[in-house]
Amino acid sequence: MLRLALLSIFLLTLRVPGSLCAQETYFSDVPLGIDWIIVPQDNPMSAAKVELGKQLFFDVRLSGNGTLSCASCHDPNKGWADDRKFSPGAHGQFTTRNVPSVVNVGLHRTFFWDGRAASLEEQALVPMTNPAEMDISLNELENRLRSIDGYRLQFEAIFADGVTSQNVARCLASFQRTLVAGETAYDRFRGGHADALEGEIGRGSGIFFGKANCGNCHIAKIYTDHKFHNIGTGIHDTKQDRGLAQRTGKEADIGKFRTPLLRDLALTAPYFHDGSKATLQEVVDFYNEGGGKNANLDPHIVPLQLTPEEKKALVTFLREGLRSNVYPRIEKPQLPK
Ligand code: HEC
Ligand code: HEC
Repeated sequence: MLRLALLSIFLLTLRVPGSLCAQETYFSDVPLGIDWIIVPQDNPMSAAKVELGKQLFFDVRLSGNGTLSCASCHDPNKGWADDRKFSPGAHGQFTTRNVPSVVNVGLHRTFFWDGRAASLEEQALVPMTNPAEMDISLNELENRLRSIDGYRLQFEAIFADGVTSQNVARCLASFQRTLVAGETAYDRFRGGHADALEGEIGRGSGIFFGKANCGNCHIAKIYTDHKFHNIGTGIHDTKQDRGLAQRTGKEADIGKFRTPLLRDLALTAPYFHDGSKATLQEVVDFYNEGGGKNANLDPHIVPLQLTPEEKKALVTFLREGLRSNVYPRIEKPQLPK
């Protein structure tokens, strides 16, 4: 209880919009390593919303031409992401960024690689209305869901105003908050199991938090500092993604991206916002060489001088030490008619 109280003070000082969702409420059985999930005050968790959100997440009727669902790009069989560099939208056009996993997404404080959405509720409507992704207008979305009795009745049972695009977003957000993974070897170690980090995983963890200083930005236990950094990715792309600068317009923000969470990386190759690294070895080589030289490079990104053995141990830590024993395995549900 004290720990939760301290966390809420911590969150208040950071002025996180939302409230602490304590383990003893909805998330009664969160896995080791996950303490809290941000739930906005105006969208409290409920089993009915989560269930409805799950159906919506898997339903291609949420796209204009009925070909794509959220799960087409955030595929549960591909780490709730995609194994391609970029993913095709409803009309075959490709996304310009690599699909992030939605596992543990409830731990983030901003959404998208450039943090341009402030909540999962705000985020959810973006892919639907994006012509390059699901390409449906909010009007069409509402009319379509209202015409499906199985959906209309569920919405009316949960919300006084029934089917609205805002309520669709609320359900999708609630469902995604339940996609929680944890209990990695490192979580067990932090939880008091000193023997959880043995052999190469242990050596790799020492390098991650020591010599390679990865933990400076990928702060345990959730492996993000919630900030934006330029590590030199994408600087050779013909059309460079401006990252955070796209949102702020500041030169100094060019090439900055939000520090991603790092659990279950083996499931979510390729890596980085542009999917430019196919393997964790390539990621480690990139950091070892000091990232990509450019004017905005973060001062913490420097050549690391890791030996081949150290690089190998670091990769093992990333792949094995951060693999969750508890992972959301969810089948496509029966969809309403
Ligand atoms: C065509 C592929 C595609 C579809 C369909 C799609 N997404 Fe995404 N999703 C992406 C890409 C690409 C990004 C990253 C975009 C960016 O950062 O600008 C993303 C980002 C996200 C994020 C932010 C994750 C983070 O770490 O910040 C969430 C949450 C998300 N999508 C949920 C959804 C939901 C819910 C749906 C269905 C309504 C959906 N997505 C449909 C490709 C897709
Ligand atoms: C200065 C802060 C910082 C440091 C230090 C740092 N990272 Fe990162 N990391 C980031 C950011 C920001 C990204 C996203 C960059 C992008 O997508 O273009 C990232 C992305 C990654 C990814 C890709 C994750 C994904 O889902 O695509 C991996 C893996 C990773 N880092 C591992 C490491 C390792 C290993 C180290 C230490 C050798 C390290 N990081 C050090 C900030 C940092």
